[in-house]
Amino acid sequence: MVKSKKKKKMAGKKTIEKKSKKFKAAEKPKEREELLLQPLRGMKDILPADQPYWDQVRRVSEKLSRDYGFARIDLPLLEYTNLFSRGIGEGTDVIEKEMYSFLTRGGDKVSLRPEMTAGICRAYIQHGMNMLSKPVKLFSTGPAYRYERPQEGRYREHYQVNYDAFGEQDAILDAQIIQVALRVVQNLGIKAIQIQVNSIGCPTCRKEYRELLVNYLESKKNKLCQDCKRRMEFNPLRTLDCKEDKCCQVGATAPQSIDHLCEECRTHFKNLLEYLDELNLPYTINPHLVRGLDYYTKTVFEIWSGQEDGRKYSLGGGGRYDGLMKTLGGEDTPAVGFALGVERLIGEMKRVQAKPYKYPKAKVFLAQLGDFAKKKSLGLFSELEKNGILVAESFGRGSLKSQLKVADRLGVEITLILGQKEALDQTVIVKNMKTGVQEIVSADKLVDLIKKKLKADNVIVYHNGEGNGNNHSGNNGENNNNV
Ligand code: HAM
Repeated sequence: MVKSKKKKKMAGKKTIEKKSKKFKAAEKPKEREELLLQPLRGMKDILPADQPYWDQVRRVSEKLSRDYGFARIDLPLLEYTNLFSRGIGEGTDVIEKEMYSFLTRGGDKVSLRPEMTAGICRAYIQHGMNMLSKPVKLFSTGPAYRYERPQEGRYREHYQVNYDAFGEQDAILDAQIIQVALRVVQNLGIKAIQIQVNSIGCPTCRKEYRELLVNYLESKKNKLCQDCKRRMEFNPLRTLDCKEDKCCQVGATAPQSIDHLCEECRTHFKNLLEYLDELNLPYTINPHLVRGLDYYTKTVFEIWSGQEDGRKYSLGGGGRYDGLMKTLGGEDTPAVGFALGVERLIGEMKRVQAKPYKYPKAKVFLAQLGDFAKKKSLGLFSELEKNGILVAESFGRGSLKSQLKVADRLGVEITLILGQKEALDQTVIVKNMKTGVQEIVSADKLVDLIKKKLKADNVIVYHNGEGNGNNHSGNNGENNNNV
């Protein structure tokens, strides 16, 4: 008994020693890794100064999605890796070289989405959207991740606006999708653009075309770049849009997919071109356009910026992908869609000096003087805001002079002054900033008076604390953007 007590004591001592050693180790200052105060390569912050451009893209793209009947869908940024590898295709650059993939703590193989289409199809299948009346049109926007070599207009994190329509095989949907893409770009003020279209056929006719192309490429193998030599085996169509000079030369005389379409694909393409003609859309048939994702069938298209120096810049692209839903285990469902790259749209807007969104400016300033008035001013501000009146303030400042200076700088029409006396009397001084005329108004009449003084279109009313759809934009008539 005595012995075991001693043993226990010894064991306790050892544990304490162990613990204190551990504690000491933890206490020792660790070598700190250098803290890099910058985003990862190929990623960027979107600062307030740039937000008017982003807001313009958001507003234009969301409005057009509603106008053309697309319902919004938001998906996780992370999905199981095999959703992308199966959907986009093992042999594509996106899957082979560009995915951000890792194992979770639970052992799941996951990837940051490199694009949105595979995720949208996953959600479509999972949520039984095949039961909805067709076409099911979905709009999505957000970031996508590709581990590419960053350069102008190419980032490792980029944003897309994405439109997809499911359940309709008629080429009229392809034409409408191209029309939407064009409307987004044009409504952002980007006028000089080119629509490039092609048809890469269906799996049946593509099989024959692929054989023909591989035979041709075999005969020119020594003129191809290393990448294309490899692509010949996995993805021979991709050799056609390789940017290397020598591959372009080989591609120029290569057999073209549109000459080898089956009857159904040929008719589909012919119908598409007729619809585009009917819409008077300025398109070019580009037999080398193949796109970098494996799921496309029949129609493929891109929207290029038309730069004066002849440089072509793809603002967005898409096409038909009739086989993807089935590949992912869903019901056979034809589909067509596109995505535009937001950074590229903004880059182009800046280049052509298109207008960013102009935020509504406050026309009323609220100044306060003295402790009691300062307390009351918070409630008054909120009362005005609830009634749709945009108010500026500088509550941190004490002196009236400095507050009036701010009001002047903001160029407001009216300054409201709440002093100690007014706060006690429940009145407010209303100062016309142009004429300098002041009047004392009872606080309960203030909202109506201000509404009358400001033009009606400067008043943005939010019902029950929620912005109503139209007014949420805060369009006060100042914004002449084409939305
Ligand atoms: P994508 O052509 O790979 O298509 O990407 C769409 C657009 O996103 C490109 O045209 C480009 O403007 C932009 N983009 C792509 N990668 C980058 C990058 N690294 N940096 C900046 N911008 C980039 C797709 O993603 C398909 N899922 C589109 C689609 C939707 N097809 C059918 N539905």
